[in-house]
Amino acid sequence: MSLFKKFINQTRKPEGFLGKLMVGGMNGGHARLADWGMTHLSGITPAKIAELGCGGGRNAGELMKRYPKAKLTAVDYSELSVQKTKEYNKYMIASGRCAVIRASVAELPQGSASADLATAFETVYFWPGLENCFAEVCRILKPGGTFLICNESDGTDETSKKYEKLIDGMRCYTADELEKALRAAGFSEVKADHHPAKPWITVIARK
Ligand SMILES: C[S@@+](CC[C@H](N)C(=O)[O-])C[C@H]1O[C@@H](n2cnc3c(N)ncnc32)[C@H](O)[C@@H]1O
Repeated sequence: MSLFKKFINQTRKPEGFLGKLMVGGMNGGHARLADWGMTHLSGITPAKIAELGCGGGRNAGELMKRYPKAKLTAVDYSELSVQKTKEYNKYMIASGRCAVIRASVAELPQGSASADLATAFETVYFWPGLENCFAEVCRILKPGGTFLICNESDGTDETSKKYEKLIDGMRCYTADELEKALRAAGFSEVKADHHPAKPWITVIARK
């Protein structure tokens, strides 16, 4: 496997030296996309947030700034991502507003109907059994709770199709495919938005 392929595969589950480099770049690399995604969060004041596949933890920090009274649990199955998220949000952890847990989205540690908002930035490409993972997200949300998915790929763009071939287990979904899986997993309202100039998509689903 080429060094580039080894490095790019670290997006799925950062591990070891290359994983450290990858996690270090995620916060800056995804900031504009995540900020655009968060503009779709209107009309809600979540008290409990679950940030899923949290990577370097920057989006967790932004969500806590956006909702200053909210408590947030960040989840990732990579030990490196968990460490980086803890470091990035150390003051929020010390103040009791943030917890970071190592777990897979296929089996979330949160209790049923415990969160008002769940978010997933640049991560659902790697989730094992999309519909089952979405059902897990649906389980931890309260009735009426919101799930935000934000992806750099709309499932058709050339760049992501190239990465899909290079990264083991990666799958870039179209908004229609995400909507279908969300509805099958128990979400009722689903709305997708496509960035006017880029292949970015945000999908908002309500339980
Ligand atoms: C490309 S990174 C994105 C990180 C961050 N959300 C961001 O936007 O910068 C994908 C992250 O999802 C995590 N991830 C992938 N599959 C996961 C799973 N099944 N359960 C928990 N985390 C997962 C990876 O470990 C990695 O940290």
